[in-house]
Amino acid sequence: MSERHLAVVVLAAGQGTRMKSSKPKVMHQIAGLSLLGHALSTASSLNAKHVVPVVRHQKETISEYIAEFYPHAVIAEQDDIPGTGRAVECGLAALPDDFDGAVIVTSGDVPLLDVATLESMLQAHIDGGFAATVLTTLLADPTGYGRIMRSNDGEFLQIVEHKDATPHQLEIDEVNAGVYVFDAKHLKSALTKVGTHNAQGEKYLTDAAAGLLQAGHKVQAVSVDDEWLVAGINDRVQLSEVAAELNARICRAWMMAGVTILDPYSTWIDVTVSIGEDTLILPGTHLKGMTTIGQAASIGPEVVMVDTTVGDGAHVVKSHILASQIGDRATVGPFAYLRPGTVLGKRSKIGTFVETKNAVIGEGSKVPHLSYVGDATIGVESNIGAGTIFANYDGVTKSHSTIGSQVRTGSHNVFVAPITIGDGAYTAAGTVVRRNVEPGDLGMNVAPQRNIADWVLSKRAGTDAATAAQAAKDSTAHKAGATDTGNPESNQ
Ligand code: UD1
Ligand code: CA
Repeated sequence: MSERHLAVVVLAAGQGTRMKSSKPKVMHQIAGLSLLGHALSTASSLNAKHVVPVVRHQKETISEYIAEFYPHAVIAEQDDIPGTGRAVECGLAALPDDFDGAVIVTSGDVPLLDVATLESMLQAHIDGGFAATVLTTLLADPTGYGRIMRSNDGEFLQIVEHKDATPHQLEIDEVNAGVYVFDAKHLKSALTKVGTHNAQGEKYLTDAAAGLLQAGHKVQAVSVDDEWLVAGINDRVQLSEVAAELNARICRAWMMAGVTILDPYSTWIDVTVSIGEDTLILPGTHLKGMTTIGQAASIGPEVVMVDTTVGDGAHVVKSHILASQIGDRATVGPFAYLRPGTVLGKRSKIGTFVETKNAVIGEGSKVPHLSYVGDATIGVESNIGAGTIFANYDGVTKSHSTIGSQVRTGSHNVFVAPITIGDGAYTAAGTVVRRNVEPGDLGMNVAPQRNIADWVLSKRAGTDAATAAQAAKDSTAHKAGATDTGNPESNQ
């Protein structure tokens, strides 16, 4: 598709003081994307020739983010003249001098605005030959927003900011959404005439709309019913409200696409996540980043999953999972911690209180209980005994362990890396495995057990343990005496 003769200016130069944050307002996230990211993703979907974010406060942080994730955007910088009008003026200066197309203006703090709304606004703007089109909505509580003044016959007149409004004007519940379409040439000349004589001493973009009308151009205000689309975020209360609404919409969309979500209120899904049909998401689950889940999987309750791929029919319960891959029909948890680089084969199992990192675990292999598997490769259909530690770090370097296929390792082993265990090998319980085990061998280094007779009776005389031991001895002696078999002296 060729780029349209269109520019989108995204305002992100404001200070965002009401957030009370050391981080720029537009860098706060909802659904896994910064507020600015939401605005720039929408702007980028319009296929415009120019996408121009305008920055000023904490411009280094914001510019770095834009350059990384929206490299096609042309960053403009606002100077010391404050206000949305000045911000747009600075944005326009970044366009080619002869640019005469339409300019859409959106705000970096209005994350739910969608492409469809902008497309229909743009269409109405072009079809009607308008110099400016202002998006509005009706709000039960319009506090803080600019109010839309209309004539008796409903024509747009001007926007009055909350701080500049009379008590009578404050009763108006139609507000400026902060989203506009302008004709570039007309906007440029209108902005040169906008001053800063208002309560905030700022150059208001809203005054350019009224200015164009006074100059004899056509200006319209079009309203959207869905107020969430234009909700602006100024503080952290609004941040959480808009985050909850966006999350509800994301959950609803996945449910409509065939995913069962038992409790959308406690399930949080980033915009970047994808989920297959017939998958079940149980309460308290957070799916983040580039997570992709297959079909008919079951995730939750209480799973946090970041940048992870899950296969069809996999089962994950109460676990924390980062940058991992979980194969088809694999099972994880409860209480597993999968760290980056974990790759689980089909039908494999990671059980309770197991931590993994950089671990490739083959088809059908199991690490069922209380283990740490770091920097390891495990073949197919092997079983790692309970309480096993892969000692991958000697304090200076990390080393790799390789376990073959069809291996059975005993409980409470330590694999001191680097180490290789051959196919079909066994290791005995309690073994500290320091030397490779060849295929089919049994590895063990456990010293033979020695029992010291009557140690408790002599070294712990008078304790409950000694009393219990004496009672057991007496009863054995009594039984032996009664039946008169065996020699109690040799019973050691
Ligand atoms: C603005 C509108 C108001 C509207 C509301 C909708 C003006 C004068 N007022 O008010 O009518 O109801 O949005 O959300 O436009 N910004 C800059 N440079 C600046 C000041 C702001 O780039 O000098 C950016 C901010 O980063 C933000 C956007 O413009 O992304 C809106 O600024 P904000 O201060 O939040 O304006 P509001 O008071 O909400
Ligand atoms: Ca705002």
